[in-house]
Amino acid sequence: MSMNIKENRQNILYDKDSETLYILDQSLLPGEIKTIPIEGLDRMIEAIKALRIRGAPAIGIFAGYCVYALSLPLCEKEDRLALLREQTEKLSEARPTAVNLAWACGRLMKCAEDKASLPGREWSEALYKEACFIHEDDISKCRAISEYGLSLIKDGDGILTHCNAGPLATSKYGTGLGPLLLGRERGMNFRAYTDETRPLLQGARLTSYELFEAGIDETLICDNMASFVMKKGLVNACFVGCDRVAANGDTANKIGTSGVAILAKHYGIPFYVLGPTSTIDYSCPDGEHIPIEMRSPDEIKNMWYSKPMAPEGVKCLNPAFDVTDAELITAIITEKGICYPPFSESLAAIREK
Ligand code: MRU
Repeated sequence: MSMNIKENRQNILYDKDSETLYILDQSLLPGEIKTIPIEGLDRMIEAIKALRIRGAPAIGIFAGYCVYALSLPLCEKEDRLALLREQTEKLSEARPTAVNLAWACGRLMKCAEDKASLPGREWSEALYKEACFIHEDDISKCRAISEYGLSLIKDGDGILTHCNAGPLATSKYGTGLGPLLLGRERGMNFRAYTDETRPLLQGARLTSYELFEAGIDETLICDNMASFVMKKGLVNACFVGCDRVAANGDTANKIGTSGVAILAKHYGIPFYVLGPTSTIDYSCPDGEHIPIEMRSPDEIKNMWYSKPMAPEGVKCLNPAFDVTDAELITAIITEKGICYPPFSESLAAIREK
């Protein structure tokens, strides 16, 4: 069993012959390309928390296969539905901000309930089909998002991106990086500016890796250099992904995204959010209601450094996401089309589409 990111950029693979779920361990990139098997609820939760698998859509795809894998040892039990619900609830709490995790867990549980009359293994197989559907559907959604995004930029444009919203964070193409990768496939050239994305460096470690591999003219910058490149006129548009979009268009994405949006507004640069409709949380009225994951101070003070970079007892705040106010967003690009303000209307309009 092998998985080659260079050939197919696959970050999640379910091997049906051995009934094993594999992921590319993103916490090791770019230095080490390693595929690891993930078995059992504890390992699944650990993989999500440790960002071995990360990016809202990818976490959702992973969760789909996890619920299926969890159903296998339960499928002959009389109380299988209750047991699966209990485990799925724990899985869905592994990270709070990316709504795709709870969304995928909810879909799988609904399928488990709808198919409750099926005998043993057939019940689990219905869950496998649902997990595969979520995965394949994300590929076509990312493709459509990429097409829409590409329609907003032209050959030679400078695009600034934050965090990682590429194939590693989704299935294929990605969301925020999708237009660049699709355009590159068609022979177009862009100048990408990648924020390194402190503290976990998804920009430096993952986006740089993906854009570099794709042969895109890419320049890595520290987060605090975004204003510099914008002021110099090097940026024509900002493309970012999203972890949860509220019904009014307020958008949670990697910490630092809202700062990029504020700068873009100052310099008159369009700021685009790209994501599948599974990332829109219609039950969430605005950004105030989006739960923000808080992570360990260690990621700021110690991680990546050979010795601690702050006094040991110093107070530290490490929110993993922030909310970009809807008024700072030029458009939200989904697989169903490009939504413009007022987002409460345009997002509602695509809901039943
Ligand atoms: O903490 P992470 O690495 O999971 O955060 C990821 C992001 O914020 C991405 O920009 C977002 O999930 C969109 S991925 C297509």
